[in-house]
Amino acid sequence: MNTIITGLQWGDEGKGKIVDFLTASADVVIRSQGGNNAGHTVITRGIKYILHLLPSGILWDDKINVIGNGVVIDPVGLVEEIQRVEAQGVAITPAKLLISDRAHIVLPIHKELDAAREIALGAHKIGTTKRGIGPAYADKINRCGLRMADFADRAFVTARITQRVAEANEILARCGLPTYEAAAVCAEVFCAIERLLPHVTNTIPVLHAAWQAKQTLLFEGAQGTLLDVDFGTYPFVTSSNTTAGGACTGSGLPPMAIERVIGVCKAYTTRVGAGPFPTVDEGLSDYLHGLGREFGATTGRPRGCGWLDTVLLRFACMVNGVTGLAVTNLDGLDAYDTLQICTGYDIDGTLHPLPPAERDAWDRIVPVYETLPGWKCDTTGCTQFGDLPTQAQTYLARLAELCGAPIAFVGVGPDRAQTLTA
Ligand code: GDP
Ligand code: IMO
Ligand code: MG
Repeated sequence: MNTIITGLQWGDEGKGKIVDFLTASADVVIRSQGGNNAGHTVITRGIKYILHLLPSGILWDDKINVIGNGVVIDPVGLVEEIQRVEAQGVAITPAKLLISDRAHIVLPIHKELDAAREIALGAHKIGTTKRGIGPAYADKINRCGLRMADFADRAFVTARITQRVAEANEILARCGLPTYEAAAVCAEVFCAIERLLPHVTNTIPVLHAAWQAKQTLLFEGAQGTLLDVDFGTYPFVTSSNTTAGGACTGSGLPPMAIERVIGVCKAYTTRVGAGPFPTVDEGLSDYLHGLGREFGATTGRPRGCGWLDTVLLRFACMVNGVTGLAVTNLDGLDAYDTLQICTGYDIDGTLHPLPPAERDAWDRIVPVYETLPGWKCDTTGCTQFGDLPTQAQTYLARLAELCGAPIAFVGVGPDRAQTLTA
């Protein structure tokens, strides 16, 4: 079944792990948005892989992996990632990894411009990953970006980079940041592109042929619904459509190719970077950090942690058309006596079942909670849904009821094997 895997919270829901699990029954795994701001952790047979731009299907020998047109690619970062994953024993051949010729490039100046914008925002900064994602997507929308296909014309690329470096240097100099030499930027980028070119192709007919041949397609979302540039907690969002629609615009496959949308969420909530987080809880954050958990896979920053927020999940299930939920990190709640679930937002005395659009309303949210009993036992050894303690099953049933989508999978540990089918 052709499936979109999409994050329902603020990213880091465990999408990589669920994609890896479902890759067993897929033929093609596709990334269609975002860039190396993503950090997807997959643990299998005791080996931990962290993937930023490579689709998680790369860990399987016989699967095709596509980086679609909607992704922004840092060529230097991607070459480093390929080398790192190859050093872990994974072969990455042109037959196994295809890169869209329409995908846009993240230049070294984009990273510096990202940092400059954060400095200029001061106390209002977004808390970006500083991977140049916003400036690269801005160039794409401003129609001055560079695409993989452009590298066939070296003179054109050199002229464009030279022009963008000059423009960027003016901004960087104003912020007191180091400026760039166009020739050095060209040399670095051309060198990385050289390594990537054997993988670059028109991925659209390849994907359509796979679809027509009834192969199974798996779309690996990056970030999460509340980071979507349209549906998220704007302006504290990323610069792409992270929601289900982004899988189509970012790959060239039409909506009717999609048969299932699996929404991934943690059994609680986390957020890294700035922006509103109504159910954040210091005690839960301290507890999970104390276990060595919830540190960002890309930047290593500690993630804020809080109670399950079904206002956000209800909205996320609506806009993504979620047909099944994958609830990860259930084991993170194993030690708790009682658990809180946020069922609504009280804003100025009115109960809201869905998140607000007004940015100042987020500061006045009082979460309305319902308390459920914890299960107080170790779930990490459960191998079937029926092995879960009754209280855990009740918690999941209530989650599903409040979100309006059934439970499809449950994660009770980080390893591929610790994934239960409901
Ligand atoms: P992604 O960006 O959505 O792929 O998620 P990340 O990999 O950034 O963050 C998810 C974290 O939770 C990683 O450290 C995973 O190894 C871990 N993880 C995923 N599912 C589970 C689970 O069910 N239980 C536990 N304990 N860890 C999990
Ligand atoms: P995965 O795919 C969690 C957050 C950043 C920041 C905001 C904007 O691993 O779930 P950006 O660098 O995109 O301009 O930063 O978005 N962010 C993520 N948070 N997981 C991610 O990806 C993220 N990608 C971006 O922390 O708040
Ligand atoms: Mg992540």
